[in-house]
Amino acid sequence: MHMSRAVGIVGVGAAVPDRVLTNAHLESTLETSDEWITTRTGIKERRIADSHTATSDLAALAARRALHGAGLSPDQVDLIIVGTVTPDMAFPSTACLVQQALGATRAAAFDLEAACTGFIYGLAIGQQFVASGVYDTVLVIGAETLSRITDYQDRSTAILFGDGAGAAVLRPVADGYGILSSILGADGSGADLLRLPAGGSRLPASEETVRDRLHYLQMAGNEVFKFAVRIMDEAAEQALAKCGLTPNQIDLLVPHQANQRIIDSAVRRLGIPMEKVVVNLDRYGNMSSASVPVGLDEAVKQGRIRDGDLVVLVGFGGGLTWGATVIRWGGTVVD
Ligand code: UT7
Repeated sequence: MHMSRAVGIVGVGAAVPDRVLTNAHLESTLETSDEWITTRTGIKERRIADSHTATSDLAALAARRALHGAGLSPDQVDLIIVGTVTPDMAFPSTACLVQQALGATRAAAFDLEAACTGFIYGLAIGQQFVASGVYDTVLVIGAETLSRITDYQDRSTAILFGDGAGAAVLRPVADGYGILSSILGADGSGADLLRLPAGGSRLPASEETVRDRLHYLQMAGNEVFKFAVRIMDEAAEQALAKCGLTPNQIDLLVPHQANQRIIDSAVRRLGIPMEKVVVNLDRYGNMSSASVPVGLDEAVKQGRIRDGDLVVLVGFGGGLTWGATVIRWGGTVVD
């Protein structure tokens, strides 16, 4: 098979829990202040899943909404990819649990782990299956319940993270539309900068690991910050250059939502106005792999994206990993 089809996003969906965790609440449990959190990060509140809700629940809800938006039924899905660092359990994969919840009985399913870049990695992988003609319909989901791995006694991380899920449906689209280019990157020399140390094969869960709080996420915030500021605009520019475009042609940028100062710096370097940038970290904090697809869903629902617009997604995170996707929006082919 030597075909290559244009592949686009034909439906998006999102799901966030109802419960809100405000800066005011964190002030009452930690030595921090709304003023510090707001000026250092831009975050005002985040959503936290109730104890009955796991990552696959949020993922399945976002996926149902994305399929509904695309006018497709679960039995039309060929492949489900879930990007997550907070799977329901180590195995089976969250993607298999989502497959079951949706009734997507024909679909293959797997998880991928690229931390906050998970959704962007997922799009690049899903695109290959559709472009090659192997599959027609791929569901790509970024879903997290980061509250389950956040140490609420550690003020340097507790203020940052929230729960949520976003999903996109990939299908063939008209030539010239859809994903024009992607770049993906990784640098394992930074593996220690952002990680969940215990519970895997290196350091299995034990009474000691729990006592030492090693089953919670750890981050060298400053180091990750410097990496993020460098990589965000670089990744976006590289992906654009790959398809012969430049930052001034961007209609909408959907960046990973880690810190307002990181977004501001990337946007300044790219030389685009803030009106062209999606920001939701003020309301949701950092949702890792869910931040970009939830931002994309909001932009679509708010009418911020028109057919023919150039949309750029860019992310970075643990691994370290990074990636960017350039999309010419629209061109949907109705069967
Ligand atoms: O999605 C994955 C990628 N993650 C990220 O991109 C996160 C990147 N990093 C960041 O966003 C920032 O580094 C943080 C928001 C995590 C921290 O901001 P910072 O400006 O880098 O602060 P810092 O770590 O340099 O700490 C400055 C001071 C320290 O006090 P001293 O040592 O100067 O006395 C911290 O103890 O701020 C203190 N601090 C806090 N103070 C009040 C740290 N967290 C807090 C807090 N409230 N919540």
